Amino acid sequence: MTPLAPILELFKLSKAYPTPKGPAVIVRDFNLNLAKGEFVTLIGHSGCGKSTVLSMVAGLTDATEGSMILAGRETNEAGPDRGVVFQSPCLLPWLSAFENVMLGVNQVYFNAPKVERRELAEYYLSVVGLGNAMHKFPRELSQGMCQRVGIARAFALQPKMLLLDEPFGMLDSLTKIELQEVLLELWRRNKLTTLMVTHDVDEAIFLSDRVVMMSDGPEAEVGDILTIPFARPRIRAEVLTDPRYMEIRNHLLTFLNERSHIRPSRIKTPRSEETETVACKYESPVAAVTSTQ
Ligand SMILES: Nc1ncnc2c1ncn2[C@@H]1O[C@H](COP(=O)(O)OP(=O)(O)OP(=O)(O)O)[C@@H](O)[C@H]1O
Ligand SMILES: [Mg+2]
Repeated sequence: MTPLAPILELFKLSKAYPTPKGPAVIVRDFNLNLAKGEFVTLIGHSGCGKSTVLSMVAGLTDATEGSMILAGRETNEAGPDRGVVFQSPCLLPWLSAFENVMLGVNQVYFNAPKVERRELAEYYLSVVGLGNAMHKFPRELSQGMCQRVGIARAFALQPKMLLLDEPFGMLDSLTKIELQEVLLELWRRNKLTTLMVTHDVDEAIFLSDRVVMMSDGPEAEVGDILTIPFARPRIRAEVLTDPRYMEIRNHLLTFLNERSHIRPSRIKTPRSEETETVACKYESPVAAVTSTQ
C-alpha cells in the first residue's frame, strides 16, 4: 500500500532550554510524518518531552533546530490551522460556553456572516453534548463539560490539524471513556489529522492509527512506532476482546518499562545500520521509515 503524502512533516526537530550549566537538550532529532486524516498518539514517561514536541508543532514553543512542514508549507509559529486542546481547557470564566467558542470563531471567520458563525459554534457544542448547556458559564459546568467546550472550541476553528495534550488526564474514567467516544466521532466526521499526547496506553490503542513511543529524555526522540490494526469505526468491547489487544498492550508496556531508555539513533548493531527498534508484526512500512529516518 502506498502511503499518502504527509500533511505534517517533522524533520530533526530539537529543543534545548537554557540552564545555568548551558543548554539542556530535551528533544533531539525528532522525526515523524503524519498522513492526512491520521490519528497519532505520543506516549512516553513523564518529563521525556511529549508536551515540548506538541508545543513545537502548535508553534507555541520555538524549535532550536529542525523544521516542520504543515500542508506543504514550512511553519514555525502558531496559527488557527492547528486547534489545540490542553489538559485543562482554560475557559474565560466571565463568558458562557457558547461565548468561549465564539471568541475563536469570530477571530478566524470575521468575514463570515454572524448567523453562520453562531451556527458553527452551536453545531460543535451540540455535537460534544452541550446542546442544552451552551449558555452556561464555566462555574456552572463540570470538569468534563468544560473539556467538552475545549474540544468544541478547537473543532469550531475547522483547523487542518488537531493537537491534544492529555485532554482527558484530569477526568474520572467514565467521563474519559465518554469523551474518547465524542472525540472519535468528531474526528470521524471531520477527518482531521490528529496528534495527541497521552499517558494512557489503553486510550492510545483505542484511539490511534499509530502510537509513537518516545525514548526517555534528555535528548528524547522517537523510540518506536506501532500501527494499530483495528478496523474503524471501533467498538470498545470488540477492541478489548480482540486477541491482538493484549499483544499490542504488552508491546507498548515493554517499551515503556524496558526499552524507553535505549536511544535508537545512537545504538548501531555491528551487523547493519539498523536502529534498535524491535520488530513488531503491527509495525507498518510507514512506521519503519518515520522511526529511523
Ligand atoms: N520552559 C522550560 N524551561 C526549561 N525546561 C523546561 C521548560 N519546559 C519544559 N522543560 C523541561 O523539559 C522536560 C520535558 O518537559 P515536557 O513538559 O515536555 O515533558 P512531558 O513528557 O510532557 O511530561 P509530562 O508527561 O509530565 O507532562 C522536563 O524536564 C521539563 O522540566
Ligand atoms: Mg506534558
